[in-house]
Amino acid sequence: MNFHLDNAPMQHGKVAIVTGANTGLGYETALGLAQKGMKVILACRSQARAEDAKTAIESAAPAADLDIMLLDLGDFSSVRRFTENFKEKYTELNLLINNAGIMWPPYSKTVDGFESQMGVNYFGHFLLTVLLIDLMPDRTDSRVVTLSSGAHKLGKGKINFEDLNWEKRYSKIDAYAQSKLACLMFAEELNRKLRHAGKKILSISAHPGVSETELGRYLSKFEELIIRVTISPFLTHSVEQAALPTLMAALDPDVKGGEYFGPQGLLEMIGQPGRATQSKYSQNQQAAKQLWDISEKLTVCELSL
Ligand SMILES: NC(=O)c1ccc[n+]([C@@H]2O[C@H](COP(=O)([O-])OP(=O)(O)OC[C@H]3O[C@@H](n4cnc5c(N)ncnc54)[C@H](OP(=O)(O)O)[C@@H]3O)[C@@H](O)[C@H]2O)c1
Repeated sequence: MNFHLDNAPMQHGKVAIVTGANTGLGYETALGLAQKGMKVILACRSQARAEDAKTAIESAAPAADLDIMLLDLGDFSSVRRFTENFKEKYTELNLLINNAGIMWPPYSKTVDGFESQMGVNYFGHFLLTVLLIDLMPDRTDSRVVTLSSGAHKLGKGKINFEDLNWEKRYSKIDAYAQSKLACLMFAEELNRKLRHAGKKILSISAHPGVSETELGRYLSKFEELIIRVTISPFLTHSVEQAALPTLMAALDPDVKGGEYFGPQGLLEMIGQPGRATQSKYSQNQQAAKQLWDISEKLTVCELSL
């Protein structure tokens, strides 16, 4: 399974949403999709940062067709407003890239009372997807791609259903790991639900390996130093390369629902994109269903296919 962006089919006439498209992997993903002729909605929380990204993408890909729409995944009312605005402007959605994320912030809660990493990385994207999926045509090139991480294997490696919001004991590292595990389990449960409903739409997940982006913005100087010494530069790759598993999940015609993509090189942190390995727990269908049911309750939003 080799994937090269140059060989991926052109996507003229199709509409994609990329969350967190103003920087890092989201920016590279939006650029790649725009180069393939897709109309790309930059779903960002800052108008100014989104406009800077739009200008940069237009200068790298002069034919890019872009639209900025504001979205704060840490606020369900913003997610709902975004989907309402999107439905007023567009009749169809072909690709949703659930990319935005935060890592290792000090403890805080989203507007709706969720621990911020679970709230932004997972619950915000859950709600966004469930509210938008009815706009996707029933074809295999309609796709939801959700970003997980190799970190889903870290920490306890399980969903802590007793304390989803880390109110008893907060570990920023475990909370990030759990949010990315939840993203992976969500992608696979969504795929099972789509298959069960007889739909052709695909739900796929991807992780970028390791790449230096603004994701480390909450790291202390000491943590940054430790990571630089232990991981970089042997186990990091460029943001362009790190965005390829997402682009493969989005564009490769041979991809199947429920697959998980990531780099194939050393420790799955760098290299060419292909199928990624995942923890045993992340494949636990009972836990995935439990997480889904709780998510529908907590977001007050049910999937209808
Ligand atoms: N970089 C890596 O090595 C790595 C490894 C594994 C997985 N990942 C995953 O890859 C994805 C992208 O990460 P990245 O490395 O590109 O990080 P990044 O450079 O920090 O970009 C994150 C993006 O998410 C946006 N965002 C954060 N909070 C948001 C909110 N409440 N509402 C809407 N957007 C929000 C940011 O917007 P602002 O700029 O406005 O803050 C930014 O556009 C994440 O899901 C991350 O977990 C990254």
